[in-house]
Amino acid sequence: MVDLISVFKRYKHLTFQNRIHIFIRKITVPWDVILDNFPAGHTLIDVGCGHGLFINLLSSGRPGFKKYIGVDADADKIRVAQQIEDDNISFRHIDFFDLREAADVYSIFDVLYLIPYDVQDKIIKHIFQKLSPNGYLVIKEIGTEPCWKFNVNRFQETISVKLAGITLGEKFYFRSEEEFTSLLKDAGFMVKVMKIDKGYLHSHILYICRK
Ligand SMILES: C[S@@+](CC[C@H](N)C(=O)[O-])C[C@H]1O[C@@H](n2cnc3c(N)ncnc32)[C@H](O)[C@@H]1O
Repeated sequence: MVDLISVFKRYKHLTFQNRIHIFIRKITVPWDVILDNFPAGHTLIDVGCGHGLFINLLSSGRPGFKKYIGVDADADKIRVAQQIEDDNISFRHIDFFDLREAADVYSIFDVLYLIPYDVQDKIIKHIFQKLSPNGYLVIKEIGTEPCWKFNVNRFQETISVKLAGITLGEKFYFRSEEEFTSLLKDAGFMVKVMKIDKGYLHSHILYICRK
């Protein structure tokens, strides 16, 4: 697993606040399990990439992709991510639907819960259409069970989104594991669901979806 010092080193200049934010994302998400189960591919598009942590980890910890593109609605986070200088990596402050490029693997980690349900549906259908056969969409979201873990997450997100304004968003649009699974299957994907929350405070669920 890529250590925190190596993660930080790829950014030219991080403020104290950036470091704290990236540190918290790094230790609260089971990235090693995600990386171990992440499909291989040529081009990756990470939707809602934030500070670019996942692309940072994947490109240094398990390289193989030839091109990495991160998009996010938060201009400040994209400016931080753009400090990672690598010819194969680009970060854009652009609406996902305006992105011209396509990829053979898409990732969306802890983003959909900030996006209204009807737009979540559109994003998933749009990705399915853009993917070539055998392409992948990998989603990680927080599940609604067990109740105490869900409440820990809701408390933390309320502070981060509504009080501190650290994460862009207004309301929450959580879905249960069953709802996500049927949404993804209805869009046409074959779905493998993995509960990856053992030892973590949040009920992380990984959806590995193949076209
Ligand atoms: C909890 S953070 C996760 C960031 C990153 N995926 C990670 O795993 O570290 C949620 C991200 O979703 C982004 N976001 C929220 N609404 C979005 C939208 N409509 N389009 C793109 N990104 C969005 C936020 O700006 C934020 O960076």
